[in-house]
Amino acid sequence: MGFTMGLNLLLLLAMVATNILSLYHLSSTLQTSKKLPPPLPPVPDNLLNQLHTIRATINQLTRLQPPTKSTTTTTTTPSDLLLHSRLSPIASSCHNHADLLHKYMTYTPYSHCPPDSASIAESLILRGCHPLPRRRCFSKSTTSDPKPLLISDTIAKFMTYTNELDLPIPQLLQIAASSNSVLRLGLDIGGGAGTFAATMKLHNVTVITTTMNLNAPNNEAVASRGLVPLHVPLQQRLPVFDGVVDLVRCGHGVNRWIPLTALEFLLYDVDRVLRSGGYLWLDHFFGKGVDLENVYGPLIGKLGYKKVKWATGTKSEKNGELYLTALLQKPLSK
Ligand SMILES: *[C@@H]1O[C@H](CO)[C@@H](O)[C@H](O)[C@H]1NC(C)=O
Repeated sequence: MGFTMGLNLLLLLAMVATNILSLYHLSSTLQTSKKLPPPLPPVPDNLLNQLHTIRATINQLTRLQPPTKSTTTTTTTPSDLLLHSRLSPIASSCHNHADLLHKYMTYTPYSHCPPDSASIAESLILRGCHPLPRRRCFSKSTTSDPKPLLISDTIAKFMTYTNELDLPIPQLLQIAASSNSVLRLGLDIGGGAGTFAATMKLHNVTVITTTMNLNAPNNEAVASRGLVPLHVPLQQRLPVFDGVVDLVRCGHGVNRWIPLTALEFLLYDVDRVLRSGGYLWLDHFFGKGVDLENVYGPLIGKLGYKKVKWATGTKSEKNGELYLTALLQKPLSK
């Protein structure tokens, strides 16, 4: 109880601090700006005091980040908070990338945002600086009537069966139907251009896609298909309430390159958003054969899900890498 309240308070502070930081930045811009007529009223002392307090709070939060041995913390910090803050720093990550954040917030208010804004924003998000401060500028928008982008990824990919690693959507729907499980809402993690969501839409299932651009117009592509792109990185808590999703698919982005502990937090977050009886589909997850057996298998096993499908196949003979496609069902009792 006390812990939950403390954590809530911490997160609330972090959220307020992130937003106030931008205000602070803005306030210092206003004070030092020489060009802008008419002269702006000075920032009141009490506001500055407040901002200093918040800065101090951020500094204090930052100290949470690396579990330094020297600090003599009298109150015990929950171990998972320390662990997670190393994977995806809480509140302090914007602070850790002050240069980028300053660059992002360096713009002329009420005018066009600088042309490289979108990539700076994504760089910050990928470094864990999220939510980003709001700005008052006009971002570059596409033409009034966006045409569907040419997407090389066709929906055929989810309809055909070439080997055991495939799970065509008709088969997925059949599996769900045979266990009286209705698929209405899905989440595709790292879903690229939204091809899975587009295919599921044909079957009247709504799928939201988390996707980063990474120099390709993925978010625009998803939107041009009339689907919802969520611009959130893999390390971020899924912006969905507990137990509301029927299906989560993890595609190419979710793989062995994710540090193991980060992957563990991700899988438990997937568990949080899945309803009882919902499905987790690991689609062509890959890793070294020995790791699949000794590391990833047991990790996935911790969720206690029913293995509806579990198929492995060679990815690369040379590296001893295997693919795993698994369809797992969250137990009803959970
Ligand atoms: C999707 O819903 C529409 C409208 O209710 C219906 O006409 C159509 O048959 C449905 N398609 C599938 C594949 O269930």
